Amino acid sequence: MNVKNKDTIKLLTRLFANYVRKHRLKLIISIFCMVIVAGATALNAWMMQPVLDEIFINKNQTLIVLIPIAVVIIAFFKGIASYIQSIFMSYIGYKLVADIQHQMFRAAIRCDLSYHNEVNSGTILSRFIQDVGALSRGVHNVIINIIKDSLTFIFLIGVMFYHDTKLAFLALFVFPIVIYPIRLIGKRLRKISKNTQIGFGVLTSKLSESFSAIKTIKAFGSENFESRRIDKEIDNIFNLTYKSTKVNSIARPLMEIVSGCAIGGIIFIGGSQVILGQTTPGTFFSFLTALLMAYQPVKSLASLNATLQVAMASAERVFEILDKKPLIKETKFPKDNELKFQDKNNINISKISFKYPSSTKLILKNINLEIFNGERVALVGYSGAGKTTLLNLLPRFFDPSKGRIEIGGIDIKNLSFSFIRNYFSLVSQDIVLFDETIKYNICYGPNIYSKTDLQNACNKSHCTEFIKKFPKGFNEIVGENGSKLSGGQKQRVAIARAFIRNSPFLLLDEATSSLDSRSEKKIQDSLDKLISKKTALIIAHRLSTVIDADRIAIINNGEIADIGKHSTLIKSSKIYKHLHELQFKKQNEKIF
Ligand SMILES: Nc1ncnc2c1ncn2[C@@H]1O[C@H](COP(=O)(O)OP(=O)(O)OP(=O)(O)O)[C@@H](O)[C@H]1O
Ligand SMILES: [Mg+2]
Repeated sequence: MNVKNKDTIKLLTRLFANYVRKHRLKLIISIFCMVIVAGATALNAWMMQPVLDEIFINKNQTLIVLIPIAVVIIAFFKGIASYIQSIFMSYIGYKLVADIQHQMFRAAIRCDLSYHNEVNSGTILSRFIQDVGALSRGVHNVIINIIKDSLTFIFLIGVMFYHDTKLAFLALFVFPIVIYPIRLIGKRLRKISKNTQIGFGVLTSKLSESFSAIKTIKAFGSENFESRRIDKEIDNIFNLTYKSTKVNSIARPLMEIVSGCAIGGIIFIGGSQVILGQTTPGTFFSFLTALLMAYQPVKSLASLNATLQVAMASAERVFEILDKKPLIKETKFPKDNELKFQDKNNINISKISFKYPSSTKLILKNINLEIFNGERVALVGYSGAGKTTLLNLLPRFFDPSKGRIEIGGIDIKNLSFSFIRNYFSLVSQDIVLFDETIKYNICYGPNIYSKTDLQNACNKSHCTEFIKKFPKGFNEIVGENGSKLSGGQKQRVAIARAFIRNSPFLLLDEATSSLDSRSEKKIQDSLDKLISKKTALIIAHRLSTVIDADRIAIINNGEIADIGKHSTLIKSSKIYKHLHELQFKKQNEKIF
């Protein structure tokens, strides 16, 4: 991705306006300090003249005292100015990182589920760490290069012109010769560092994937295979970084040779002038010092574009996340007040069709389903029929492509997110827990619950009995994704979460994994308690759920094939009969 000049200016303007301008006082002080540093550098070069001419040659008694004092004073001011400039510029740089990371997290977490389904979490992670870092280093360097280095260069050139205009013109010819190879090297470096950034992204993705799939890796005995996969990425980064150092290292000897020739030439011409008495040795040495000192700022200025390009490529990747607008938008004028939780609100799913953004296939086709207050509706169907997809549309994880969903006659698109997410409680197949305490996991969310709420929820969900056994009770940390809990315990924690939220409508994706009958009974019991007095839409995998349901909707190939009670469907529906034969009948209260 080659960032064009116009884009570079656009990106820089945006960075400056949003993240640097607000620190303008610090920036101005910092720039002032850079002027002092640059001035002091030039002053040091200039001082070579009186040192040589007055002290060494004329043996001036006053200046032998004054010049060392001046040197100390200059060093003192230069030191203070560099310190202030350095801490203020670092502050601006680090603050930029922090500000962007704050915003990036907010933007990324608000992105639609469909975005997260498609973008690898490692990619986001590497943008978060690598790219923001490169961006900040770039902005930091660019400001310092442009201001401090150009000022130093200009002041030093000033010293050179002050002493000898002709020689200064001659010396100026040398700089383009030095700049050319540095620019070439910079171009190569840019390409290498872009590949390094990409390499870091791939490594981060693969690392996070490997560690989250650690159980699978062990189960398949594929530790060596995984190690080799990661080795490849690490070696790739090693090769690239080593290559970049090799390329970068050419710059120094190259410049030294060119500047060696230039200095040789200047010594010859300048020296001849001294011998001929056209100039003093002090003037000549001061000139030479300024020329030597100009090497460093020229070098950084020459590589400025490369630094800038690397940073801008990162800026594009960072802004891409910052600018990502969720497609599922919250209404600005929610009609929450027209609905009350206590109201007898029925859910009306009407003429819904749906396809995932990543595919063209319709997963749901013309679904019509009304669920009345207090009703328990079971969804059954073959795997892949679209049951989970339908459930995900109610809390607006996805919006339907066609049709609408209403609560009490109001389209859910006209209700606030907080209302919808409080209205529905989802207990899903895949339970995700945070590496925090049990209490944190059960009370998770923006609402605040009392201790009594927590205890009630745990009692009803049969969590209390296993929580009691932990040395720290409610404050026991559950491990990454609840690794310290058993499958059944995790399910009970998920049920406790739903209890404590006490939403009027339950969305339940029954677990398909098999548990022992004691654990199973506890879960069944807690689910029964949870569902009682609530409206529920349940993806049923258990015979008891199907039999207890008020109505059963058979989803087949994204359509509702039939709707009715168990007793009717078993006679009238071929699909239901088949599902019953295949799954429910064999169970005898076990899960299929
Ligand atoms: N994020 C996604 N992107 C694209 N397609 C998807 C996505 N999630 C699911 N699908 C597809 O949608 C179809 C329905 O999936 P869904 O998860 O709704 O099935 P299900 O009825 O819940 O099955 P199961 O009983 O196995 O849980 C499947 O063909 C699946 O491949
Ligand atoms: Mg499913």
